[in-house]
Amino acid sequence: MQTIKYTFQPHGDERGQLISLEEFKDIPFRIKRVYYMYDTLADVVRGHHAHKSLEQILICIHGSCRIRLDNGTEKKVVSLEKPYEGLYVANNMWREMFDFSPDAVLMVLASEVYDESDYIRDYDEFLKFVNAQK
Ligand code: TYD
Repeated sequence: MQTIKYTFQPHGDERGQLISLEEFKDIPFRIKRVYYMYDTLADVVRGHHAHKSLEQILICIHGSCRIRLDNGTEKKVVSLEKPYEGLYVANNMWREMFDFSPDAVLMVLASEVYDESDYIRDYDEFLKFVNAQK
C-alpha cells in the first residue's frame, strides 16, 4: 500500500520557522474544514472509521503520534513526528490514530465540512463498502 507523506517547505530564517499551506498548491483539495486534537490520553485510540468521500491531510504540528491506515486489503502504520510532515488520507481508508505523546497536537485539514453521513464507523460495513467498489 502506498502512502503519501508530504514534506512541507518551511520559510525559515534566523527568527524560526513558518509553514504556509494553500489549497490546490500545497494541499491537493479545497480546504473546507480544519480541526485538531490535543490533550489526548496516552492509551487512547481515536478514529476507527473511514469516509466515503472525504479527503484529509493529517499534520502533527506538535509532539508525535502514529496513524494506522487500512484500505481493506493492506494495513500500514505511519509515524507523524515533525510539524512539516503531512499524511494524505484518501476516502475509503480506515484510520486509527494512537500513541499520542502528551504534548501532541494533531491537526487535520479536510476537504468537506463535518457530515456524519459520510462516515463508515463499522469495520465490517467498511469492508463491504470497499469490496463493492472493486
Ligand atoms: P469523533 O468522530 O469521535 O473523533 P475521532 O474520529 O477523532 O475519534 O469526534 C468527536 C466529537 O467531535 C463528536 O461528537 C463529533 C464532533 N466533531 C465535530 O463536531 N466536528 C468535526 O469536524 C469532527 C471531526 C468531530
